Amino acid sequence: MTKVSKAGHVLAIDQGTTSTRAILFDAHGTPVAVARREFPQHYPGEGWVEHEPADILRDVRIVAREAMETGGQDASGIAAIGITNQRETTVVWDRRTGEPIHRAIVWQDRRTAPVCRALTVAGHDRKVRQKTGLLIDAYFSATKIAWVLDHVEGARTRAERGELCFGTIDSFLVFHLTGGKVHATDATNASRTLLFDIHRQDWDDELLAIFRVPRAMLPQVLDSADDYGMTVPDLLGAPVPIAGVAGDQQAATFGQSCLEPGMVKSTYGTGCFALINTGSTPVESQNRLLTTVAYRLDGRPTYALEGSIFVAGAAIKWLRDGLGVITHASQTDDMATRVPDSHGVYFVPAFVGLGAPHWDPDARAAIHGMTFDAGPAHIARAALEAVAYQTRDLMDAMAGDWGGRPNALRIDGGMAANDWLCQFLADMTGLPVERPEVIETTALGAACLAALRVGLFEGIGAVSQAWKLDRRFEPRMDEPRRAKLYGGWLDAVDRARSRP
Ligand code: G3P
Repeated sequence: MTKVSKAGHVLAIDQGTTSTRAILFDAHGTPVAVARREFPQHYPGEGWVEHEPADILRDVRIVAREAMETGGQDASGIAAIGITNQRETTVVWDRRTGEPIHRAIVWQDRRTAPVCRALTVAGHDRKVRQKTGLLIDAYFSATKIAWVLDHVEGARTRAERGELCFGTIDSFLVFHLTGGKVHATDATNASRTLLFDIHRQDWDDELLAIFRVPRAMLPQVLDSADDYGMTVPDLLGAPVPIAGVAGDQQAATFGQSCLEPGMVKSTYGTGCFALINTGSTPVESQNRLLTTVAYRLDGRPTYALEGSIFVAGAAIKWLRDGLGVITHASQTDDMATRVPDSHGVYFVPAFVGLGAPHWDPDARAAIHGMTFDAGPAHIARAALEAVAYQTRDLMDAMAGDWGGRPNALRIDGGMAANDWLCQFLADMTGLPVERPEVIETTALGAACLAALRVGLFEGIGAVSQAWKLDRRFEPRMDEPRRAKLYGGWLDAVDRARSRP
């Protein structure tokens, strides 16, 4: 059992797809210092995306120290660390040395799409769906693990002998930050692997056989607020307990205080992920959403339905780094409002296929409706509008599964700072959109989990108190206009889809 600490701060580490952040929170959940670093993406093949685990580890150490310094704290002021992470991304490493045997295969990576198709054709879909709440898709970890075992010489035999460890990024970080003492993950991250039975809350032998993953390489599955060991002294100058771990979207759900059934949040980072809390019941989707663990406390899972969209902020990054029509992401705000509308331009950002509710790995990005008088501002606006259209896709699917629309949509992530986008989101979904004061809600969620574990927060009520409304955006658009714009989006998506 982790000791209750008198230290008053929590350090959250948010290891995302394109950047690594450390945020220092005080005992009321107010951020006092932030440090952030972007790291390189590797695209070694068509639809392949990899990360260098050493880059991630180096950046975690740097941002953790930077945030502590900026916040004027040393280890004695830190009650606990909370870790949150890009989910599904797969690392396999040597249990003895900690050295990865391959680069991390990122959640966006599509290399195992053919394997997934074959497993679906072989009839495994129904069983996998019942046990894991997921579809068989290259997005999740299982086929990525098997790919590494099949492509690195000797890896499969070594994994069977227990010499290799698999982990999502949380697990890889916990292993290294504790000096190799703890090989664990939490139930939210485990629920994204295709290997975890979300009803029994355990790894499942039948799934392990289907996906050809040896049990000996799997981490222990703990609660989201739990004892993940002490950090090595050289990280922060003295050992600090790691007391909270959750996948980033689940951490955001917790940080958004979506703690009651029917509450919904949507996070705008690299992708966009909307989760609705369904309480202690895992709800099976009829609309191709995922059933997942929202958080697990004291051994009791709370479930969610999730809509996963692979590209949101990443489309803006592409406008900057790929197309070169902007030099800074925040310019899109200005550009979008400079033109009265997108001039019929639709941007379907299916760079790595389409996620929920379409699940089309072979769809590719497309810009539709261009005329000679269309320019960069229209494309930028279309990229932002696509974020709202995709959110509408998810809200409609959720309403179908949940049997009613939520009272409000709580949003967070970097793009939530854009007022114009918040209003367009409200207009397109027809829901009031609530933006909290802390839009780094993912990190806040991880900090809250850790704070609960070490007794800095006395109960879950403290999480609700840490959530404060910044601004609420009411829907203003008339229905005919909303229907016309959304109809255009559905048509554009249809054109971007792969043809059998
Ligand atoms: O499932 C992938 C997700 O966890 C990535 O989140 O914030 O890096 O886009 P983000």
